[in-house]
Amino acid sequence: MQPKEAKQRIEELSALIQHHNHLYYQESRSEISDFEFDQRMNELIALEEAFPEFKSKDSPSQRVGGTITKNFDTVVHRYPMLSLGNTYSTEELTAFDTRIKKALKEQAYAYFCELKFDGVAISITYKNGYLERAVTRGDGTRGDDITHNARTIRSLPLKLKGSDYPDDFEVRGEVFMPREVFNAINQEKEEKGEALLANPRNTASGTLKMQDSSIVASRKLDCYLYALMGEDLNLATHAEAMKKLEQWGFNVSPTYKQCDTLDEVLDYVADWEMKRLELPVETDGIVVKINDYAQREMLGFTAKNPRWAISYKYKAESGATKLNSIVYQVGRTGAITPVANLAPVPLAGTIVKRASLHNANEIQRLDLREGDTVFVEKGGEIIPKITGVDLNKRPKDSKTVAYISHCPECNTPLQRNEGEAVHYCPNSKGCPPQIKGRIQHFIHRKAMDIDSIGEKTIDALYQKKLVHGPADLYVLTFEDIFALDGFKERATEKILKGIEASKKQPFSKLLFALGIRHTGETAARLLAEHFKNMDTLKAASIETIADIDGIGDIMAQSIFDYFRDEENLKDIDRLQAYGLQFEEKPSEHKQLSKKLEGMKILASGSFEHFKRDDIIKVVEEHGGMYVKSVSKSLDLIIEGADMGPSKKSKAEKMGIKMITEDDFIKMIS
Ligand code: IVH
Repeated sequence: MQPKEAKQRIEELSALIQHHNHLYYQESRSEISDFEFDQRMNELIALEEAFPEFKSKDSPSQRVGGTITKNFDTVVHRYPMLSLGNTYSTEELTAFDTRIKKALKEQAYAYFCELKFDGVAISITYKNGYLERAVTRGDGTRGDDITHNARTIRSLPLKLKGSDYPDDFEVRGEVFMPREVFNAINQEKEEKGEALLANPRNTASGTLKMQDSSIVASRKLDCYLYALMGEDLNLATHAEAMKKLEQWGFNVSPTYKQCDTLDEVLDYVADWEMKRLELPVETDGIVVKINDYAQREMLGFTAKNPRWAISYKYKAESGATKLNSIVYQVGRTGAITPVANLAPVPLAGTIVKRASLHNANEIQRLDLREGDTVFVEKGGEIIPKITGVDLNKRPKDSKTVAYISHCPECNTPLQRNEGEAVHYCPNSKGCPPQIKGRIQHFIHRKAMDIDSIGEKTIDALYQKKLVHGPADLYVLTFEDIFALDGFKERATEKILKGIEASKKQPFSKLLFALGIRHTGETAARLLAEHFKNMDTLKAASIETIADIDGIGDIMAQSIFDYFRDEENLKDIDRLQAYGLQFEEKPSEHKQLSKKLEGMKILASGSFEHFKRDDIIKVVEEHGGMYVKSVSKSLDLIIEGADMGPSKKSKAEKMGIKMITEDDFIKMIS
């Protein structure tokens, strides 16, 4: 490609991607598929690599990350990042208003109310319209330079819209992980048998400090801006500033409201108490700010807080109830979770009877005792938590909880790995909930997808000693199932049909279904794509496994260990004998279109936008078949740079159609 052409294409692609980013993040809609979006992005990245002189400061390619920061530089804030004074009642808010009224000497004033987003405060400098630097709050005086990570936040403009922005200013806001993203990560962790993340706030905070910005990009953080700072801003009020932020392309939560009286503030507080639970971000209160900048200056600051703003914290719905007992659950991977059985108490619209206690440390931290009266809270999270004990009501003869030392299900001594908070039952092959949990995982929709079998059926089959592991499902007979309580002919047949159909599930699904610790859906797919079949994977060394992009050392070790276990190997042999898929088939790729259906295609030479493996994948994703040598049956050759001359003349002689890489991209777009 000629430089001129490349420059034009880079500009075209950047504008296009920015447009789609805007639609997606600001308007919550999309006009193209994720795949098409990724293709444009890949094309842009490849072109920028080939022509770095045309890469702009605000290229959307920066959103995908890739920079590794070993140590974050410390930066002193130009304006300190203060915190807000807190209030918890209408009386305290009224007292705040009285103070304001007095200090402003009867001047008219207005408030600006916003929600208090529960994320991580960040300050971002823009120079001449470009994002220059992003810094965490730190201790309020100095924070960490996390610019590379902040650039991956898609709703944060790299270049501002319009032209009426100051040359040099800072915006402040809250970086957060949307609830949906957080829940999806936790769901994946659950599937992998890993410990769950505590809450979106901590996760967002941890993510911003990750060294690899491409992982940050994958975590889909978002950001709401709520303050503009700088010299000579020429703005009189916060309301004007927020409007400007919106116009320049910043993401401002649409939940703000100007309130001219205290009563309006109190209405705002009441309005959002329940509505806030439906927002994409967790919130723990509201922030009331004086709208007028000149009045803010008159009011000034205390040592820690501005006098012109305050926060009002909503009470987490809480209640006191009796802790009847602590029971212990055993998960699929043997992880033990202590659970509090509570005397039923109504909280935030539901009756709470149980609360997770996470691990032994948590019980110790709270110094819980059976019979205690405990405080239970239900905040933004779905699972209620115990926040403390009412010591006044502690029964005299109560005893500290002795954490169990043996598995409550199979009585095997528990283990706790160094550095981990969770206890495990190591008896994975003989502990009933672990056995049943493994079968349940095996038949899961995302694994072998045998949806005709439910938890109760597994229980019944296990009780009757008909199944002890996933492989046993494939030898079940009509009589076995028919004999279970409540099973008629049709239900029995449905199960058998479901089991039979599962034999066709792709190799990658089978790998996920095996339930190898730490190995989720994505990792299973990577393994299948890389090793292609079970034998090669079985024989792989830890190093070859860990070499795969996207597979970490802990996962590699766990996969390697899995294939060193005699019983696992026996199970795998049985599954093979029953006819399950032990090889990755080309057709396993997602089918994106039929544009290349029935075509035999070969790519030769080197390419700008694709690695060789990518081309194979793309050909198959569009219904084509990738072939490795030139022959008459070939329909198409994608000719890259330096295609071998002998291959080329052979193809020409055979009259095989040859196209360029760009033509190929057009063909599939
Ligand atoms: S204004 C002088 N507005 O609350 C402080 N802060 O306790 C100006 N926060 O560190 C901050 N939502 O992380 C402001 N709408 C909002 C906010 C907000 C959340 C956080 C922020 C700050 C803390 C102050």
